[in-house]
Amino acid sequence: MTESTVAREKVIIFDTTLRDGEQSPGASMTIEEKIQIAEALERLGVDVIEAGFPIASEGDFRAVQEIARRVKRSVVCGLARAAYGDIDRAGEALKPAERKRIHTFIATSPLHMKYKLQMEPEEVLAWVEKSVRRARSWTDDVEWSGEDASRSDRDFLCRCIETAIRAGATTVNIPDTVGYAYPEEFADLIRYILDRVPNIDKAVVSVHCHNDLGLAVANSLRAVQAGARQVECTVNGIGERAGNAALEEIVMAIRTRADLLPYRTGIDTTQIMRASRLVSAITGFAVQPNKAIVGANAFAHESGIHQDGVLKHAQTYEIMRPEDVGLVKSSLVLGKHSGRHAFRKKLEELGYRLGDNALNEAFRRFKDLADKKKEIYDDDIIALVDDEIHAHEQRVRLVSLKVECGTEVKPTARMVLEVDGVRREAEASGDGPVDATFRAIRTIVPHEASLPLFQIHAVTEGTDAQAVVSVRLEEQGRSVHGQGSDTDTIVAAARAYLAALNKLLVKRGKRAPAALSA
Ligand code: KIV
Ligand code: ZN
Repeated sequence: MTESTVAREKVIIFDTTLRDGEQSPGASMTIEEKIQIAEALERLGVDVIEAGFPIASEGDFRAVQEIARRVKRSVVCGLARAAYGDIDRAGEALKPAERKRIHTFIATSPLHMKYKLQMEPEEVLAWVEKSVRRARSWTDDVEWSGEDASRSDRDFLCRCIETAIRAGATTVNIPDTVGYAYPEEFADLIRYILDRVPNIDKAVVSVHCHNDLGLAVANSLRAVQAGARQVECTVNGIGERAGNAALEEIVMAIRTRADLLPYRTGIDTTQIMRASRLVSAITGFAVQPNKAIVGANAFAHESGIHQDGVLKHAQTYEIMRPEDVGLVKSSLVLGKHSGRHAFRKKLEELGYRLGDNALNEAFRRFKDLADKKKEIYDDDIIALVDDEIHAHEQRVRLVSLKVECGTEVKPTARMVLEVDGVRREAEASGDGPVDATFRAIRTIVPHEASLPLFQIHAVTEGTDAQAVVSVRLEEQGRSVHGQGSDTDTIVAAARAYLAALNKLLVKRGKRAPAALSA
């Protein structure tokens, strides 16, 4: 760290991928997946991990509890409405944490107070006091948020903030819940709060911006310039509706425009790509190619003029170095004769640590792949390992698949699956090979789930490239994502479908998440 970085004021990075991010329709995650993301966030160096909303469901409670047990460096945070039941549940879930925070919120805008809460402003104010005090009985680190703060009456909001700090809040968060704010206006609100709230120096001012108008990052950065010192954000910007401010954009803007933003974060930026890939693989939300920082084209120079310039001097067209965000060129890696040791080393280099079972399975599949494909790249290995990330709790496994298709025949799939350890076979025809394959799965494991998403992309160039297939299944309000890869697109599709189906089987019987207002 250079002297100038030490002198810079720190902006606390509060990540809510596991809470607000998980509230995106279709992004629900299993406990194991949440743990993997929490570990990636800790490696990334986020200061606070909002791990979930413990009152929402038994699954949320257990996820927060497990993350609280495992994470050591980041503060682990649980969300709670202004209700004793919520706060106590968050307090219970966070008990094992070395460093814990309870984040309690209540709406402060006239619209929300009248129609959603059906409370008078004075009642809301009383709950600010009661909820923060209750949270303080569990921990000294309490964050209070005024939901819909950007559309609240400024003076009422200031009274709420003053009350929250008096009751013991150490962070006060100003959410732009509906993504309505405009950068200059939002910065002005932060300045107003800093000028008017008498005890504001006793708490950190935080912002939480949604991206409905595409302004979440701009609003957050202007707020920092106005005096906010915590930014709430998510990896890849996932979150309710249009999402939250993207962590990678906030962090890289602060780093790249140090001339205008004289602050620092504790983020190890070389971990950004890895965290982005993991979140995308787990949620099934593909990152758009032109997405800032983590999109596939973010560092690609297509036009001749740009390529020529970059070759002569990288900074002609590059304001950041790809390696600064952990983008390493996909290199030719292993081959048919590479052993387990080399494979494990390669995984470590790519940032993956697998348990013994997952490592054995990934190695077996790597050997299969090496038989089929001459050249194996980093991206092939990443696709393969991402499959293993989805492969836990597999009650239904693919044993074999044979598909007949083409211009002269009706597409037919013959499939053998292992269901709870028992081999089952089926044959089905369909409108195409994928349809036939999915019908065969439905014959063996009957279910009514719909298929709102089916996506294929190639991992590398060439006709022998692996296909990565993403599948989303929906059943009675439950939405699950599965991913599968193989050099055979139909096998990849079957793997993806089975990964999603296995998650659905786990989710069945669990209570659907309660409708939440956060
Ligand atoms: O958007 C919002 O207002 C929230 C709060 C719970 C912070 O997510
Ligand atoms: Zn939010």
